[in-house]
Amino acid sequence: MQSAIECENLETAYAVSLSRPILNRINCTINPGEFVCLLGLNGAGKSTLLRAMIGLVPLKQGVIRINGVTMTPRTLTQTRRDLGMLFQGGGLIRQLPAIENVLCGRLGELPTWKTFWGFPKQDRRLAIDLLTRLGLQDQIYQKTGQLSGGQQQRVAIARALIQSPKILLADEPITGLDVMAARQVMDILSKLHQEQGMTVVVVLHDLALAAAYAQRAIILDAGRVVYDGNCDRLHDQFSQLLSY
Ligand SMILES: Nc1ncnc2c1ncn2[C@@H]1O[C@H](COP(=O)(O)OP(=O)(O)OP(=O)(O)O)[C@@H](O)[C@H]1O
Ligand SMILES: [Mg+2]
Repeated sequence: MQSAIECENLETAYAVSLSRPILNRINCTINPGEFVCLLGLNGAGKSTLLRAMIGLVPLKQGVIRINGVTMTPRTLTQTRRDLGMLFQGGGLIRQLPAIENVLCGRLGELPTWKTFWGFPKQDRRLAIDLLTRLGLQDQIYQKTGQLSGGQQQRVAIARALIQSPKILLADEPITGLDVMAARQVMDILSKLHQEQGMTVVVVLHDLALAAAYAQRAIILDAGRVVYDGNCDRLHDQFSQLLSY
């Protein structure tokens, strides 16, 4: 079976200190249709690993393959087409309405003249459809700066989904949300995984939620993978290391 994501011996070109690269010979594989959570303390390298997977991190060594295609400057457009990314903190433009933020997920993909003259009608329809499916039908034209944290996360999910990616990378989509809103966002990710067979990699800081939703956990510590396995005994094994 071909992997959805394969990271082989990744080492970042920049380092935390002279002796320690941010990602230190990372090897990990994500299978198609898997729901994997990525855990680790602040600064462990989780966001850097997700950003590396979409080709935003300069590497000193290592190989990344997305659906079997090796990522190089020449294949980047192709490999990114399969990936949707939800950045830590949402990365939304507060002054723009929800729908415009969702359409921003298209900017790298459409020719400039198309975005200059406005997004094609079918894209606007898709953005409205996504926001509606995520329960934001009443917030479509509202500035995202005026939305609640949970609503903003859902806008960020819609933006990550506008390219219909096969793989969704979600960096801390529930941090700062209350228990109910966090569950709602996790349920949305779970539904995408179960109903559309989407591959999901999600960064979490909550061992109980990781065990409840993910099939597998990868734990990073100081830029290295220290655990890669099932979520059965996560809390017993790692609550001390992660000091949760
Ligand atoms: N562009 C960069 N240049 C130099 N150092 C960086 C850069 N980005 C991140 N770092 C450093 O790399 C380390 C890992 O950062 P990263 O954001 O990947 O951690 P994280 O596991 O996502 O942490 P958190 O849980 O706080 O989000 C940190 O020490 C950080 O300061
Ligand atoms: Mg992070």
